[in-house]
Amino acid sequence: VECSYFKILLVGKALNSCHATKPGMLNVHLVPHTHDDVGWLKTVDQYFYGDRNDIQHAGVQYILDSVVDQLLKNPDRRFIYVETAFFYRWWKQQTDDMQNTVKQLVNEGRLEFVNGGWCMSDEATTHYSAVIDQMTMGLRFLNDTFGHCGRPRVAWHIDPFGHAREHASMFAQMGYDGFFFGRLDYQDRNRRMVAREQEMLWRASESLTPPMADLFTGILPNGYNPPEGFCWDQSCDDPPIRDDPDLEDYNVDDVALVYKTNHIIMTMGSDFQYENANLWYKNLDKLIRYVNQMQSNGSEVNVLYSTPSCYLQELHRANLTWPLKGDDFFPYADSAHDFWTGYFTSRPALKRYERISNSYLQTCKQLEVLGGPISRKGPFGAGDSETLKKAMAVAQHHDAVSGTEKQHVANDYARKLANGWAHCQVLVSNTLSSLSGSSAPRVYCEHLNISVCPLTETSKKFSVNVYNPLARPVSWPVRLPVNGTAYIPHSIPTPPQVVPVSQATAAVRRGRGYAVNELLFQVQAPPLGYSTYSVSLLQNGPPSPPSPLPRAPTAVQNKFLRVTFDPETGLLSSLSNLETQQTVKLSQNFYWYNASDGNNSESIQMSGAYIFRPNTSTPFIISKTAKIETLQNSVVQEVRQWFSPWVSQVVRLYTDSRALELEWTVGPVPIGDDLGKEVISRLDSSINSSGVFYTDSNGREVLQRRKDYRPTWNLRQSEPIAGNYYPINSRAYIKDDKDQLTVVTDRSQGGGSIQDGSLEIMLHRRLLYDDVRGVGEPLNETSDIYPEGLVVRGRHLLSLSPPATAADTHRPLAQEVVLQPLITFTDGELHPSTRLEFSGLQAVLPPAVHLLTVSQWDQDTVLLRLEHQYQASESKEHSQPVTVNLQKLFSTLDMLGVSEMNLSANQWKDEMTRLDWKAESGTHHTGVTNQLCLLSPLGCVKTADLL
Ligand SMILES: *[C@@H]1O[C@H](CO)[C@@H](O)[C@H](O)[C@H]1NC(C)=O
Ligand SMILES: *[C@@H]1O[C@H](CO)[C@@H](O)[C@H](O)[C@H]1NC(C)=O
Ligand SMILES: *[C@@H]1O[C@H](CO)[C@@H](O)[C@H](O)[C@H]1NC(C)=O
Ligand SMILES: *[C@@H]1O[C@H](CO)[C@@H](O)[C@H](O)[C@H]1NC(C)=O
Ligand SMILES: *[C@@H]1O[C@H](CO)[C@@H](O)[C@H](O)[C@H]1NC(C)=O
Ligand SMILES: [Zn+2]
Repeated sequence: VECSYFKILLVGKALNSCHATKPGMLNVHLVPHTHDDVGWLKTVDQYFYGDRNDIQHAGVQYILDSVVDQLLKNPDRRFIYVETAFFYRWWKQQTDDMQNTVKQLVNEGRLEFVNGGWCMSDEATTHYSAVIDQMTMGLRFLNDTFGHCGRPRVAWHIDPFGHAREHASMFAQMGYDGFFFGRLDYQDRNRRMVAREQEMLWRASESLTPPMADLFTGILPNGYNPPEGFCWDQSCDDPPIRDDPDLEDYNVDDVALVYKTNHIIMTMGSDFQYENANLWYKNLDKLIRYVNQMQSNGSEVNVLYSTPSCYLQELHRANLTWPLKGDDFFPYADSAHDFWTGYFTSRPALKRYERISNSYLQTCKQLEVLGGPISRKGPFGAGDSETLKKAMAVAQHHDAVSGTEKQHVANDYARKLANGWAHCQVLVSNTLSSLSGSSAPRVYCEHLNISVCPLTETSKKFSVNVYNPLARPVSWPVRLPVNGTAYIPHSIPTPPQVVPVSQATAAVRRGRGYAVNELLFQVQAPPLGYSTYSVSLLQNGPPSPPSPLPRAPTAVQNKFLRVTFDPETGLLSSLSNLETQQTVKLSQNFYWYNASDGNNSESIQMSGAYIFRPNTSTPFIISKTAKIETLQNSVVQEVRQWFSPWVSQVVRLYTDSRALELEWTVGPVPIGDDLGKEVISRLDSSINSSGVFYTDSNGREVLQRRKDYRPTWNLRQSEPIAGNYYPINSRAYIKDDKDQLTVVTDRSQGGGSIQDGSLEIMLHRRLLYDDVRGVGEPLNETSDIYPEGLVVRGRHLLSLSPPATAADTHRPLAQEVVLQPLITFTDGELHPSTRLEFSGLQAVLPPAVHLLTVSQWDQDTVLLRLEHQYQASESKEHSQPVTVNLQKLFSTLDMLGVSEMNLSANQWKDEMTRLDWKAESGTHHTGVTNQLCLLSPLGCVKTADLL
């Protein structure tokens, strides 16, 4: 069965399931919908089953039961469904009959999928690679189950708290015809209403040739709720329609005034509504009937059941031109002192766990392909990547990695990820065993960041396998907790070093490991492959490694960088790039903002999981000086800084690194003074940044930010700190004509540049009040191991370069942090026949090309995504078209054929037809296209910007 919407694209006329509209009238599109959070106040399972209704009355299984039942009662009725994570579960429990009935509803356009990803992802704190994965998973299920008719045409992010340009770019490349959302800054909305610019064309990339990343974008009139007085869910108290509907009282004309066409959309539904869909539909049927009857008396209002794609089709048919949008929708404020910029950092430990889980999932998927069937069923049992895929997909939800869920729900996301890891570990063991020819049990150490690994702490002889998921070789420092003092390395170019475990690390371990030393050595791993190193304890080594010196060195340097310290304070004082001979003054320290408790004359808003509201604009310094210990050896130079019992840092310069590592440890954040605290790391430099700084969008393209300024409206700034915070997913920088200082982060964080030359990044938050956006809990994280408050550790990588070449350093650097090597161990001696090295690639990819996805698709098919990772004109050398020979790419796979798909892999590229939209100011091309040319075995040459 061909679905009707698909037909219009082919036939070009309205042969479709959308209800007819009336040209001379105001057409009001009623869109019945439910917003089903994939976890928030309850876990995703509790929401599905309707468990724990004492927390929130919500049960998604009943919603779908009830809606399908009601759709069947009247063919005019419509419904849209959004979150495939829920729909998939419900579908699996239905009988064949019911499944066929639902297919029929979908084919007839009565039930329409919109968005269709596994969840509705957060836009501020997600990485594009994980978003593409979760969208692919949901959209694939829909295509496999419903074919063309199940393909969502519209992206629908009605709840996320601000909107990222990279999301719009991805949606365009996923083939969506349009995008609707609910939340944007209140000043922006007011201006857009007056200017009738609530619908626009978002040009979402500086690098892709329009219209490739152009996305028609509409702002919904009422968030995603029904108009006041029109909520007929069982959760609402509005009176039912009797005989005389009051739509006239509501005055649809006022709504129409702020839009450009004679169509308006009304979202009829809200959070977890339609559990008893009869209430909604009975009233909607009446509303439509009565309002339209009045047309015979001269009324010019036409009300109809509709869907976002039917509404979009009418806007398209209007053949208008639309204002162009080039920046993004961050930060989001819903009133003068209510900036939703706290969640950029909320739950920093969960944010890191999510990011590292992405790295692990990519490795797991690669090893599933490289290992073949034995990866899923091999010597170590049944492994799979599916469990982690699902856990990661759920973690992208706008109340998951965002950190805006209740504590028990955050625990559930982490538990799901951990379970996914366990399934992947079996798979990884199977593949590594198969590739290496060694069936020795493989050991995983997930606490290496705090120097805990029972195997290396106790074993006298073990091997280390380093798997590199990148398509180019990497050199990587490995630090392992050990009790011994000297080790013989095998196949390690430079001798390993033993250094004492720092006091800060010993304190943070809390009884989970007792190693007194760390063994440190540099490893190399080939592209998409591994290297193996064996290590044995030398019995008669020196008694103990040299103790750290209790003072700051004047300088620390390798062949690339030189850093100086102020001997009085122990703080950084300058950073030089020795290759380019540039030097900037640079200091760094830790501060906190006291959180507003709502006791304030300007506003009662408190800082909470969503909202950042410091009670003063001047942060408090934690300590003006640091106690120092210094270590130097042939692998690393370390300056260990101790600021207070709850803040410490290690400044590290590895011998062959172009970046300076700042490893911060923060917590338990003290709350004895009854004030919540938001802790930042601040860099102050001599760079003349003139109120401008730069942040990445979902880890991909970079956007310019200007203090107290928004590109599309005249900002009235009311929060000098919170109103200047932006999401940082993987990097931020400041620059002037000569110098660019870039910070690469290891997770999503919030940050700003409040003074010229300064860059601050929020690391941790601990708050004592709820911020009244629904979560109903203060963000006051503790755990069994840290009952007095969570301790968080992370890294910032600093580089200094001329602006023209800075991307050549920060792109690969950020990539190494996002896709980090996986380290596994085996105990004892390696069997002599063990294969110590493996690479899945025949050739290294060109530096501009990133291997984004290698994943088993069907039995004989692999999904491959190659990405041109440089933005237009950011690198003289790399922002250029590049060619990849697919035939000579993999070492173990034969390439028989290639078919190109859209970004989310739910459409063949040659079937992709998107609605075209005209921009008001004409289409002016910006930047050059970073083309990627693929040579396939069939000899066909295709070009694509992002596959
Ligand atoms: C139309 O107007 C007439 C006269 O005022 C009234 O009797 C009738 O009920 C109206 N019809 C509707 C559908 O409102
Ligand atoms: C759309 O408008 C343009 C003028 O702006 C006109 O040339 C074109 O024919 C219109 N297309 C349709 C389908 O009405
Ligand atoms: C490591 O050494 C420390 C100090 O000598 C000792 O307390 C600890 O028990 C040792 N741990 C192991 C696992 O051998
Ligand atoms: C925050 O957590 C601490 C430690 O569990 C607890 O003592 C304190 O009461 C909590 N405060 C609030 C406001 O929840
Ligand atoms: C989507 O489903 C249809 C119908 O089963 C199938 O023909 C098509 O190949 C699928 N598209 C993709 C991209 O897998
Ligand atoms: Zn939501």
